[in-house]
Amino acid sequence: MQLIDGKAVADRIKQEIAQEVETICNAGGKRPHLAAVLVGHDGGSETYVAHKVKACEQCGFKSTLVRYESDVTEDELLRKVDELNNDPDIDGFIVQLPLPKHISEQKVIEAIDYRKDVDGFHPVNVGRMSIGLPCFVSATPAGIMELLARYEIETKGKHCVVLGRSNIVGKPVATLMMQKAYPGNATVTVCHSATPNIKEICRTADIIIAALGSPEFVTADMVKEGAVIIDVGTTRVPDASKKSGFKLTGDVKFDEVAPRCSFITPVPGGVGPMTIVSLMRNTLLAGKKAIYR
Ligand code: GUN
Repeated sequence: MQLIDGKAVADRIKQEIAQEVETICNAGGKRPHLAAVLVGHDGGSETYVAHKVKACEQCGFKSTLVRYESDVTEDELLRKVDELNNDPDIDGFIVQLPLPKHISEQKVIEAIDYRKDVDGFHPVNVGRMSIGLPCFVSATPAGIMELLARYEIETKGKHCVVLGRSNIVGKPVATLMMQKAYPGNATVTVCHSATPNIKEICRTADIIIAALGSPEFVTADMVKEGAVIIDVGTTRVPDASKKSGFKLTGDVKFDEVAPRCSFITPVPGGVGPMTIVSLMRNTLLAGKKAIYR
């Protein structure tokens, strides 16, 4: 069994990005600038956005954090999106999800200029990704593909089972895994809450990408000997022994599943750090106008 060290890969990529940024700036080019909009005080969102801001520093980017209380109106948020769309110094920006119930996430996503949509959530980017055109690929799926590539994991002709059908992870990663490319070219099955025989389907998988948000859902009896396991879960499970009061728990029962695998990602330190680095890469691409002019 080989552990996929997402943190080590992410650290290396951040160094590569930082070097490229210095080269750009030394040649008189513009330092990439990412803005993040955070609404409310959800613990998970606060942590993710803090990590994104820190990663910007590590990559040599400029970053701007825009904060609102959770009672901000949809109109006010849409006005900020419009302002960021039109600010020439901002290369890309994200609005951290989830948003409070009174705000339409879809309306906000569609209000973002797709050329600055470094999250890759805008329908233009989702559509372009699904037909294999250059675009901003959303960060978690892009991070997973990068890990498969860096560990030279064979995907062609393999049976890849994706657990979960979210717009952020399940759907896009299933799309990428079926593209005629490496990584990809796999036979993909997507399982979700209405799939009756998930265990049986998982047992036929060469690769399982678990993105349900259901702690320790994948158990040893669901995993074929030698399978590759990518765990996207990051649920905060109460744990009195931790200073924070919780333990970040994946969708895979790691201790019993790991001995059966050829490769497995840990939680934390697997997919998570790669997600942030993929956002940094998209911001660099936005800064260089490498995808859209
Ligand atoms: N919430 C959970 N993951 C993400 C992400 O990748 N981007 C944004 N904007 N919100 C999220």
